[in-house]
Amino acid sequence: MSGNLFGNAYQVMTFGESHGKYIGLVIDGLKPGLEISLDEIQQELNRRRPGQSSVTTPRQEKDRIEVVSGILEGKTTGTPICMLIANEDQRPGDYEKLKNILRPGHASYTFLKKYGIFDFRGGGRASGRETATRVAAGALAKQLLEQREIKIFAYTRAIGGIEISEVDPSFIEKNPLRTADPEAAGKMLAAIESAKNEGDSLGGIIEVVVQNCPPGLGEPVFHKLEADLAAALMSIGAVKGFEIGSGFKAAQMKGSEQNDPFYYDRAHQRFRTKTNNAGGTLGGISNGEDLVMRIAVKPPSSIAKKIETVDRDGNPVVFGTGGRHDPCICPRIVPVAEAMVALVLLDHLLLQDRISKENNLDELRRKMDTIDQQILLLLAQRFDYIGKIAEEKKRMGLDVSDHNREKTVKKNWTASTKTLDLDPEMSKNLVDLILKHSKKKQQEVLQ
Ligand SMILES: Cc1cc2nc3c(=O)[nH]c(=O)nc-3n(C[C@H](O)[C@H](O)[C@H](O)COP(=O)(O)O)c2cc1C
Repeated sequence: MSGNLFGNAYQVMTFGESHGKYIGLVIDGLKPGLEISLDEIQQELNRRRPGQSSVTTPRQEKDRIEVVSGILEGKTTGTPICMLIANEDQRPGDYEKLKNILRPGHASYTFLKKYGIFDFRGGGRASGRETATRVAAGALAKQLLEQREIKIFAYTRAIGGIEISEVDPSFIEKNPLRTADPEAAGKMLAAIESAKNEGDSLGGIIEVVVQNCPPGLGEPVFHKLEADLAAALMSIGAVKGFEIGSGFKAAQMKGSEQNDPFYYDRAHQRFRTKTNNAGGTLGGISNGEDLVMRIAVKPPSSIAKKIETVDRDGNPVVFGTGGRHDPCICPRIVPVAEAMVALVLLDHLLLQDRISKENNLDELRRKMDTIDQQILLLLAQRFDYIGKIAEEKKRMGLDVSDHNREKTVKKNWTASTKTLDLDPEMSKNLVDLILKHSKKKQQEVLQ
């Protein structure tokens, strides 16, 4: 099975199945010496962990992270970072009776067609459990992004058609739905409970916001920032839609409404846009405004309500799901979405660092070339004066050589060499050379 590797500069490979012994990940591409807090990684895993409330699956997993390699005394060593998370609360028996059923909304049929074999124990690789590894890699990425003041947060915007009407960021982690509007939270909870009582489930919309994203991230053609963000977010199970900025509403707007006018923010010495319909990118490259994305999450497919389907031999079956499942997975997808966005941003940031370094070198060389031109220009002016001095000496009947004057020039030169902290040998060679050629020029004029 390929396609388990994510990213170009910050590379993450995940492995493991829902009901195997472990799930895990390997991260490659980080330089040594970066400070990493394992506590913060654990906190992010705790946010995604099942069994947190009545709206999430009662499966009990501690999701304890075990670092196998690549981090020593809180710092990256520059070698691959391997982390493991044990699957402790496995009950493959829950899935035994589903072994031969083609479960609607699940990946069993397509896995079977593709591989000829399917790990029926809770979805195998297609299980939401796999996303714990993404959260671990994302939590590490988030720390490195935060060290550069880049902040990512997500929240539930809608559940079962109930949409929030205000955004209170301080409320997000205080409610089991991770929504941002206390009033909508109550209605959403009631809707989930009611769907659950009917043996059903609900979907929703999650919004992800990135603050302080620097301008310049994203490659202009096949790795546009929004294209990579869309791919990353759409790779999460149950995500069925992606939009950025005004998204699908842009199709109904006029150009004059959709365009975001620029202005210069003198206080922060940067260009900004008055509105943010673009959602933080232009031409696939971040423009420095907040990145604002939304994803549509479908209602979980595992429901107690009886539904008709067929088994592997095509015989009709009516079944309702046993096992342990979430009536709404939006609150658990919130940290996963943040993690996927963190992976994309760190990947692009590390790529951009490489480009910036190249740009920096070019820029420094350009500045040096300008200085060289200025040195030559000043030399030409100096030799003009030498010519004029020689004319004066000729008129006054003076010699070319003037030892006292030569001593004064050298003395001034040495004093400036010390003040400017220049190499004395280089300085002496230069003054000797200039004086030698000055004398030569004066002699030419006097002859
Ligand atoms: C964190 C997380 C938890 C999930 N929990 C469940 C669940 O309890 N029940 C379910 O039917 N699907 C759940 N899913 C969704 C399935 O993994 C997904 O719908 C399935 O693999 C089919 O893939 P698709 O919906 O992307 O086509 C979960 C997904 C994530 C990311």
